[in-house]
Amino acid sequence: MSNSNSHEKIEKNVGLMAVLIAVAVSFGGLAEIVPLMFQAEAIKPLEGVKPYPALELAGRDIYVREGCYNCHSQMVRTLRFESERYGHYSLAGESVYDRPFQWGSKRTGPDLARVGGRYSDDWHRVHLINPRDVVPESNMPSFPWLEHAKVDGEATADRMAALQKLGDPYSDEEIDEAAEAVKDKTELDAVVAYLQGLGKHAPRGG
Ligand code: HEC
Repeated sequence: MSNSNSHEKIEKNVGLMAVLIAVAVSFGGLAEIVPLMFQAEAIKPLEGVKPYPALELAGRDIYVREGCYNCHSQMVRTLRFESERYGHYSLAGESVYDRPFQWGSKRTGPDLARVGGRYSDDWHRVHLINPRDVVPESNMPSFPWLEHAKVDGEATADRMAALQKLGDPYSDEEIDEAAEAVKDKTELDAVVAYLQGLGKHAPRGG
């Protein structure tokens, strides 16, 4: 009886209940977050992972601008059916140069963390201009304007310089050559380059 009484006391005290719920919920978050803060490998790039080359970086910014993340995550979870579908689960060291990261959890479309190399460049171009041309049942929006807009070389170089200030190991040379590297490239070229680079350095296998 005394047991059910103390339950009743807690449940009827909104303030105490709120505090206890906050404590219970924080445990879940802390258990996930705190170990990462102390693991060097969480902030160490995986072997081969480098800051995005100019064209891919521009493509990544367009990906964010167009809101692709509203429908696509970029994180393969540590669940067997996920790694069987997408490939090896995501590792923190793959996204050390992702600012902001695109992990997400909303999946109207498939996860894209391992999409690089799965389709040809041409497939991506047709798909982005009108998804229904290659996937008839697709409800992904069309992005036809990407084909007609040019990548802004100066803005891309500025972004690389800003990332360099934040500690990304871009060389001054790479920044100087950025505008040339994206010259005459369309936004569609940039997004396709970005997509084709996704998962490039992921460990192989499930
Ligand atoms: C409203 C939701 C939505 C938005 C926004 C969206 N997509 Fe999609 N996407 C989907 C759906 C649904 C599919 C699966 C059908 C298909 O392949 O078209 C898909 C499929 C894809 C695929 C093929 C993935 C695979 O493994 O087969 C790629 C690549 C892709 N989207 C890229 C993008 C990019 C890049 C953007 C932003 C420019 C974007 N998507 C925006 C819903 C969306």
